[in-house]
Amino acid sequence: MNIQVENPPCLQVNDLTKEFTLHNRDGMQINGFSGVSFSVRTGELLALTGPSGVGKSSILKTVYRTYTPSRGTIWLHRGQGKMVNLAGCSESEMLGYRRRHIGFVTQFLKILPRIPALDVVAAPLIETGTRKDEARERAAEMLRALHIREELFSISPLTFSGGEQQRINIARGIIAPKKLLLLDEPTASLDEQSASSVLQLLQELKRQKICMVAIFHDRERMVQVADNEYHLEQET
Ligand SMILES: Nc1ncnc2c1ncn2[C@@H]1O[C@H](COP(=O)(O)OP(=O)(O)OP(=O)(O)O)[C@@H](O)[C@H]1O
Ligand SMILES: [Mg+2]
Repeated sequence: MNIQVENPPCLQVNDLTKEFTLHNRDGMQINGFSGVSFSVRTGELLALTGPSGVGKSSILKTVYRTYTPSRGTIWLHRGQGKMVNLAGCSESEMLGYRRRHIGFVTQFLKILPRIPALDVVAAPLIETGTRKDEARERAAEMLRALHIREELFSISPLTFSGGEQQRINIARGIIAPKKLLLLDEPTASLDEQSASSVLQLLQELKRQKICMVAIFHDRERMVQVADNEYHLEQET
């Protein structure tokens, strides 16, 4: 049996480097991260680790192309042997790849006011063609799995607590999973019970062959789901 074929790579990052140019400071250069190389297979979770300020969040933002890389390649395997270098895509191509292939659970929830939590979470399923009533039912299941109280389902998450907002953010980010999922500290402000529910959902995504790159603030939680670790050291 050929394991390579059973479990092909999904993302390959080579020599990725980001220098920030501060235009309001006479073009001053700040090193975000440099020479980063890693590869993640389908159904695997790679954890990015290292001290604060070393560039972990910037790597995720560069893969998602919120930031333009200064150097290096980001190969996304789209299936059936098709590959694309996200580092070389135009902005409009990138919008298409994000829509079809890449999800990003950022640290903070950004939503429109007055939309009930259930609809916020169901929205990605409805966008991908699921019937509204079924999408809302699946959103309710996910919110129950994340221990969100039923009485909150019909309320806008804008007034939720930090940890509740974070769970809404995660639920919305994973309900219609794409091939590649980027997660920036998904369990950061959660208590033990909610954090372990999130870890269980990530395990389920691995079974569904989703490829993930994630940052965890807590090593104990990271080792429960990570298959590999890419450690960054501060340059001196
Ligand atoms: N848009 C930006 N413009 C200028 N500098 C930036 C920008 N984004 C990040 N940086 C700098 O890049 C470096 C890495 O930041 P980043 O947020 O990636 O660190 P991190 O490893 O995620 O840290 P933490 O664990 O504290 O979240 C920092 O020195 C930061 O100031
Ligand atoms: Mg960060």
